[in-house]
Amino acid sequence: MKRVDDFRLQLGGRELVPIMIGGMGVDISTAELAVEAARLGGIGHISDAMIKTVADRRFNTRFVKDKLQQYKFNVDNPDKSMVRFDLGRVAEATKMHVASTMEAKRGDGMIFINCMEKLTMNAPKETLRVRLHAALDAGIDGITLAAGLHLGSFALMEDHPRFRDAKLGIIVSSLRALVLFLKKSARTQRLPDFVVVEGPLAGGHLGFGLDWSNYDLATIFTEIRDYLAAEKLDIPLIPAGGIFTGSDAAFFLENGAGAVQVATRFTVTRECGLPEEAQQEYFQAQAEQIVVNMISPTGYPMRMLSNSPAIGAGTRPNCEAYGYLLDSNGACSYIDSWNREQAAHPDAKKLAVLDKTCLCTHMRNFDVWTCGHYTYRLKDTSHRLADGSYQQLTAAHVFNDYLRSTDNQIALPPKEDASA
Ligand SMILES: Cc1cc2nc3c(=O)[nH]c(=O)nc-3n(C[C@H](O)[C@H](O)[C@H](O)COP(=O)(O)O)c2cc1C
Repeated sequence: MKRVDDFRLQLGGRELVPIMIGGMGVDISTAELAVEAARLGGIGHISDAMIKTVADRRFNTRFVKDKLQQYKFNVDNPDKSMVRFDLGRVAEATKMHVASTMEAKRGDGMIFINCMEKLTMNAPKETLRVRLHAALDAGIDGITLAAGLHLGSFALMEDHPRFRDAKLGIIVSSLRALVLFLKKSARTQRLPDFVVVEGPLAGGHLGFGLDWSNYDLATIFTEIRDYLAAEKLDIPLIPAGGIFTGSDAAFFLENGAGAVQVATRFTVTRECGLPEEAQQEYFQAQAEQIVVNMISPTGYPMRMLSNSPAIGAGTRPNCEAYGYLLDSNGACSYIDSWNREQAAHPDAKKLAVLDKTCLCTHMRNFDVWTCGHYTYRLKDTSHRLADGSYQQLTAAHVFNDYLRSTDNQIALPPKEDASA
């Protein structure tokens, strides 16, 4: 039986370990995690979601405070259309995050940045262009275009000197989305260097409706693989979503995948940005606690733990400080929900908003415990300690387990606590 380590990903004349750690927004996939993936010969991701918050945490800058200061007068105004991102500062924050990550990179792997196009930032095209250009300027190895796939994204980068040398990939959840993207970007005479096919068991936002359970990754993967072969398009295909063991990964590699993208197994590693208390919630999760709901104002279903503090929280919209989900008219569906509840309960000290959440605030605070479908299996990947908590893992341990495991086995780490 073959193991993941028997395969290699060919990408731009390079040979890589076929494991890509997926982007996990608002610094859950940290620079440290991405650097570790690259050191081990695979591909790691950082994410540019809420880049100013990430930069402030890493570099002690004041990007968020300064924006809030500028727009403070508007906090009580439901109309957020004047709350704008300063494009120069978005570029500055992006460059700081990317450049320092790339400086830390060691080994033969690569580091990409995950750009979620649903972060419309009150000026979708202008802000996305700046985000993409700044990441390329700062030397990122590649870009993965995610959630909300903007069909014109390649055109936005066309005039960048690195447009043809950086590795550019897309995430799709159907053949239809891929065909549309290829058609729309044909004019740039540049194919994606890789295509991630994300199935319905992934973490984060899903490219499916609430009927997600009617779909399965293997079927969509096969359909896209056969389409690419028929069209003689030699683009590495990278399945994602629910690939929990090395054997799951080897199955796809044996069936023509170039690599696999994985995330959930890494959420409980030291290098991951989730605070340790949240990691313990992931370890302890039971199957019935993993839910898919519509509380994200993006309009996409999102998978998360049902005990996520963000669910039902009636936080005042924080668009003056953040505002990443404001559309080009300055609207966000959470603002509508919050206004509705406030009008219905004008004297309430604390509001409960059930249908939507202030995703910016709660992702910033790690209060949306978004996760893959198989999170309830994380408890099988580590040791339960005497106090009932679980031993945190290292990214290298999880990475190597994917690489070497056979027969759906999961290797436990060396025990750190003798009393366990
Ligand atoms: C905590 C978490 C956060 C995620 N955030 C993002 C994100 O910001 N952008 C994105 O494109 N995908 C995101 N994903 C999806 C992953 O990158 C990946 O494709 C998917 O989760 C792989 O499936 P697995 O978690 O079952 O291994 C996230 C996944 C998790 C678990």
